[in-house]
Amino acid sequence: MFQTLKAQPADKILSLMQAYKADPRDAKIDLGVGVYKDASGNTPVMRAVKEAERRLVADQTTKAYVGLAGDPAFADAMIDLLLADTLPRARISAIATPGGTGAIRQALEMVKLAAPDATVWISNPTWPNHPSIIRFLGMKVREYRYFDEATRGVDIDGMIADLGTVAEGDVVLLHGCCHNPTGANPTADQWDRIIATLQDRGAVPLVDVAYQGFGDGLEEDAQATRKIVGAFPNLMIAASCSKNFGIYRERTGILMGIARDAAEAQLTQANLNFLNRQNYSFPPDHGARVVTTILTDPALRADWEAELEETRNTMLDLRRQLAEELRRLSNDDRFDFIADHRGMFSRLGTTEDRVETLRADHGIYMVSDSRMNIAGLNTQTVPILARAIVDAGI
Ligand code: LMR
Repeated sequence: MFQTLKAQPADKILSLMQAYKADPRDAKIDLGVGVYKDASGNTPVMRAVKEAERRLVADQTTKAYVGLAGDPAFADAMIDLLLADTLPRARISAIATPGGTGAIRQALEMVKLAAPDATVWISNPTWPNHPSIIRFLGMKVREYRYFDEATRGVDIDGMIADLGTVAEGDVVLLHGCCHNPTGANPTADQWDRIIATLQDRGAVPLVDVAYQGFGDGLEEDAQATRKIVGAFPNLMIAASCSKNFGIYRERTGILMGIARDAAEAQLTQANLNFLNRQNYSFPPDHGARVVTTILTDPALRADWEAELEETRNTMLDLRRQLAEELRRLSNDDRFDFIADHRGMFSRLGTTEDRVETLRADHGIYMVSDSRMNIAGLNTQTVPILARAIVDAGI
């Protein structure tokens, strides 16, 4: 049977991870996969996570199955974190999923169940796994303009023009905050235009929120999603706990569905549960339980928020330092966008050849589309990167 298999295309982020590991040079810099690293290059277990895990080990009395949707307390805590009181709880259905990727996958399978002919619109560019999963599921996909290569900001006019051609019932995948891979995000006014256009077209938003708390703060990063939630009768939200709780390998995410009313929400919930059953039965519980423990204990939550805020500020300081160093070395302000971008990533905006030069000559690893993980830097490596960027003629 297996002789009929074809080789699958390599994922550019994951193959870069392997190439970095295999590079024997000591002075190498990993700006590839989106994992937070502190100044010494470690990805720490957050203090509140350690404490919540300690309590779980001490207090948990069973590992019996929980339920197809996962623990309802996890859904309540995550809905509160992301949506606060934007909507009546009765309109929201939710399932725990294996990470944010699991939530995206289940969201797309929901589209296949509910509207198999719908086209899924994705930003150009987007996280490469979005189009990969959509195509794997045999769904129709189209791109909308998003990134202005000249300013490295959002091409809002191009985006609005393209979204203005979306057909009724099409699904539009939006990054709720901290756009991956560009780091460029719409302003509040621009979000209003995006929402008005999508309402006008009768589109169904699918909001991917993988970095809440990494941009402008936990509340600030939820604002666009809350606005979207208040503006559409139906939509879905895929949220990840991998980055903001630093529990990457625990695979903790959630898919929320917003229905018109309580009866429709029950039907939506039953379909979400069905999809979990078809794909893996019960979703992973450990990470979800850690998250719930933290979010429902005021002291643990305060400590988690404080550590997340330190993480966010560290990335912002690195952004400012890099933009300043580039301004000094190049005598030009064309790299100031790095300080304006938000989240873990910035797209430098250069050719694959120059990205390859940075890797070959300087041991600097960034994704081939010139996406840099800002958290892969520290105060010592910022000047090295800035010098290499200028020397490479970027
Ligand atoms: C990334 O974009 O680097 C992360 O979301 C990790 C991944 O799975 O690609």
